[in-house]
Amino acid sequence: MDSTALFKFSSGLYIVSATDGERTGACIINTGLQLTSEPLQVEVVVNKKNYTCDVIKEAGHFALSVVSERADMPFIGTFGFKCSADIDKFSGLPTETTDMFDPYTTENTCAVISCAVAQAIDVGTHVIFVGEVTDARNLSDDAPMTYSYYHTVLRGKTPPKASAFVPGEDATKGARPAKAAGPLHHFRCMVCGYVHETPDEELPADFKCPLCGFGPEKFERID
Ligand SMILES: Cc1cc2nc3c(=O)[nH]c(=O)nc-3n(C[C@H](O)[C@H](O)[C@H](O)COP(=O)(O)O)c2cc1C
Repeated sequence: MDSTALFKFSSGLYIVSATDGERTGACIINTGLQLTSEPLQVEVVVNKKNYTCDVIKEAGHFALSVVSERADMPFIGTFGFKCSADIDKFSGLPTETTDMFDPYTTENTCAVISCAVAQAIDVGTHVIFVGEVTDARNLSDDAPMTYSYYHTVLRGKTPPKASAFVPGEDATKGARPAKAAGPLHHFRCMVCGYVHETPDEELPADFKCPLCGFGPEKFERID
């Protein structure tokens, strides 16, 4: 079986976020979808190991923001490769709240949909949350980012907790041209796809990926 066939599925990139009064969780997903129009329902698929999953369960509601093409890798890295237990992902970003009091950022997003959880379906590693839409707002005229744009333009990778993760995935293979022979070397983060350029032969032991925070053991030399 060639699992990379599933890369051809079309989807968008979203931030699902929730607060239960004590905790706030937010993460990138590519599994947001409109389910029905009457009642107006959407769904999100969230890994049980993501902090955000427990927060949504406890809260009983969530915000689904549509990421726009304005978003860069540091923005996606914060929401898609870091854990809400360790950092406040909204820190430094213009943040508002939905009618359900869930936080969302107006930066790099073009719409937000507020939902009350109507069903939580256990599908093994992930939970499908069906949300009844209680409010929806357009935030900008920027184009919504597709999952394909994320792979091909931003050279982004998919972490293991995403539904679309494929072990050994290299959707970015060949996408970033290596420089011609010269004094610089390139190291690619196998977690998020970030490429670091340096004249050094090796990365220093205390080097940290600026996007996902992993150390040199997660980098492969690509030139
Ligand atoms: C492109 C991309 C797509 C992702 N899709 C999903 C998804 O559909 N469902 C999911 O649970 N996690 C997905 N993730 C992974 C979460 O965003 C990631 O595990 C995040 O660090 C979880 O944060 P949290 O622990 O604060 O909830 C995706 C990440 C990226 C970068």
